[in-house]
Amino acid sequence: MDKKNIVLTGDRPTGKLHLGHYIGSLKNRIELQKSYDQYIMIADTQALTDYFENPERISESIFEVVSDYLAVGIDPDLSTIFIQSQVSALPELMMYYMNLVTVSRLERNPTVKTELAQKDFATSVPAGFLCYPISQAADITAFKAEIVPVGEDQLPLIEQTNEVVRKFNRLYNTDCLKEAKAHLSKTSRLVGIDGKAKASKSLNNAIFLSDSPEIIKQKVFSMFTDPNHIKISDPGRVEGNVVFQYLDAFHEDKNEVEDLKLQYSKGGLGDTTIKSLLNDCLQKLLQPIREKRAAIDKKYLLDICIEGTKKAQKSANRTLNEVKNAIGINFFEKFSS
Ligand code: TRP
Repeated sequence: MDKKNIVLTGDRPTGKLHLGHYIGSLKNRIELQKSYDQYIMIADTQALTDYFENPERISESIFEVVSDYLAVGIDPDLSTIFIQSQVSALPELMMYYMNLVTVSRLERNPTVKTELAQKDFATSVPAGFLCYPISQAADITAFKAEIVPVGEDQLPLIEQTNEVVRKFNRLYNTDCLKEAKAHLSKTSRLVGIDGKAKASKSLNNAIFLSDSPEIIKQKVFSMFTDPNHIKISDPGRVEGNVVFQYLDAFHEDKNEVEDLKLQYSKGGLGDTTIKSLLNDCLQKLLQPIREKRAAIDKKYLLDICIEGTKKAQKSANRTLNEVKNAIGINFFEKFSS
């Protein structure tokens, strides 16, 4: 069997997936699974660092997210879908890595720093939150992932992972951990239908992959365009116009979109026309996804997660064993040989 490079990717399960996920990571994963050994992790343990007081939000989302994966075309024969909390080697690895990372280094991690500022913890930062980059280092190294597809905001986490790898290998004189490369997603993040921020569940400005045709239409027709474009004959602004940003992201005919932009900025093209076009295009994209999603059998879904998790456990246990050997604390093996 040919040995394929390993990819690790994943999502925090905090709600159903939307068009921002589709364009930002799902499409990419559908491609990557063809040529890589791809692991897709449902990062429920990591999501708990934010939602430990509302764990239902996470437990309710896990199967929704996996349904979205299967509906868009992630193939469980090509990708290993697994649930983070069920792989106990991950927190074990994290425990060993914690010795190699200082609290001040965690506080200086730019992603953590931004999140700390947003969360307003004052002086009572939970250790679980502060240490999540170490948990992520465990995720990545456990599978010896060489490639980690991420958005820009995750780069500092990969960098910190590689610091752990180098420090561990040097300290324990081993090469059992592998450095990972970030694979930056080309498409920038999708804007929300309000045009104010990126599409997200919490801002209530996203179109979900499972939305009904009526809801999709309603969301498209409520999209922010150009508030000064009142009459059809008025020149309109394309920049900052959500409808055009979505047409850029989802419409297949890029030339047609460019022609429409030209016409819109000159005047003579109404919002209703471009919204109808976008609506048709999104309905066409989402209908088969929605139908496939509705047809997924619960038992099948569970089987996929169990099978994937078993494979992930095996692979993470192998790395854990190597890590314990390198440190010299595989006591029973050590004394019986
Ligand atoms: N931090 C990622 C997110 O916020 C989720 C994640 C956890 C992850 N562990 C990972 C992604 C390892 C890639 C590799 O979405």
